Amino acid sequence: MTSNPEQKAGFETRAIHAGQEPDPATGAVVPPIFATSTYKQDGVGGLRGGYEYSRSANPTRTALEEAIASLEEGERGFAFASGLAAEHTLVKSLLSPGDHVVIPDDAYGGTYRLIARVEQPWGVDFSTAPISDLDAVRAAIRPGHTKAIWVETPTNPLLNVGDISALASLAHESGAMLVVDNTFASPYLQQPLVLGADAVVHSTTKYVGGHSDVVGGALVVRDHELAERIGFHQNAIGAVAGPFDAFLTLRGLKTLAVRMERHCDNAEAVVRFLSEHPAVSQVIYPGVASHPGHEVASRQMKRFGGIVSFRVNGGEQKALDICARTKIFTLGESLGGVESLIEHPGRMTHASVAGTELEVPSDLIRLSVGIETEADLLADLGQALA
Ligand SMILES: Cc1ncc(COP(=O)(O)O)c(C=O)c1O
Repeated sequence: MTSNPEQKAGFETRAIHAGQEPDPATGAVVPPIFATSTYKQDGVGGLRGGYEYSRSANPTRTALEEAIASLEEGERGFAFASGLAAEHTLVKSLLSPGDHVVIPDDAYGGTYRLIARVEQPWGVDFSTAPISDLDAVRAAIRPGHTKAIWVETPTNPLLNVGDISALASLAHESGAMLVVDNTFASPYLQQPLVLGADAVVHSTTKYVGGHSDVVGGALVVRDHELAERIGFHQNAIGAVAGPFDAFLTLRGLKTLAVRMERHCDNAEAVVRFLSEHPAVSQVIYPGVASHPGHEVASRQMKRFGGIVSFRVNGGEQKALDICARTKIFTLGESLGGVESLIEHPGRMTHASVAGTELEVPSDLIRLSVGIETEADLLADLGQALA
């Protein structure tokens, strides 16, 4: 990838080439979609390149796994059928009945549901804590039982920021691992393993895939022994990414750097616009100097991402009306694609946490700012807020 083996290739170069050598059989520049469940063996146990059965490994998936591991600066990457499949596999790999995990008090609703309604009945207990408050996270730790501190940063949808280095030290002092859900930042803006985290989780459905055309998940770790455990569970549970999905995700990953720059440019313009609008009571974005996580985000992120949340004057009905009126911002769940999306977290992505301590304000709107023409996005928000 680089003529000088001592010099590591840059992020953009690795996004396009890591794990993606031209196909040895044909020279195909793009890793082909290996639509096969099984592989011919050259005699019993004579595997070609280690491929035996596609739940265990598939070359299209391997290409994606190597690329994302390289971008997160990890030892190994693993690709799954969804972000939640990745999370479930990680829980099974890290925790056992009787263990305890600390999760954000504003975790993504699906993560909360997984931990509270699937993992807890299996025997893993959990507490929630605001991940921007180290003392609160420390207080939530149960010595001897807490085996993982699980954070999102920035969080979904309130964009709170956790200090990854400090949380890693806290976790390690208590004999726990630090898991970072890096979905919102993407490896282009933030690399948690470099900051001390033990495992990175992605919903690759979002910025990594980047085109709203595929659901997927990934895990990346830096420790060899943990990688072996996850590899075992990935195969044993079997919630793997199929070759078509791995192909689409890898195709998206190649342009992550340029997309993220444009997402950030447009998000900053939207923040400036909303901050001056009389219908808006609060704009939440870690790039704003008054955001409580701004200083930490400036230290650990390259830029501040494409998600902007805001609250409106006039309560829930006003928020719902705005969501119904945008034309370029499409009303829909998910985020991180090239097209701009708008949603009402209380009624949509976070409906599953209504009535719990994770409930979000009813006048909150979340934007996933896409890479369309800036002026068109501002005009669309302007007419919807009018
Ligand atoms: C921060 C975060 N983590 C995990 C997930 C779950 O990923 P998936 O929907 O791919 O299962 C999501 C989905 O929205 C998310 O926003």
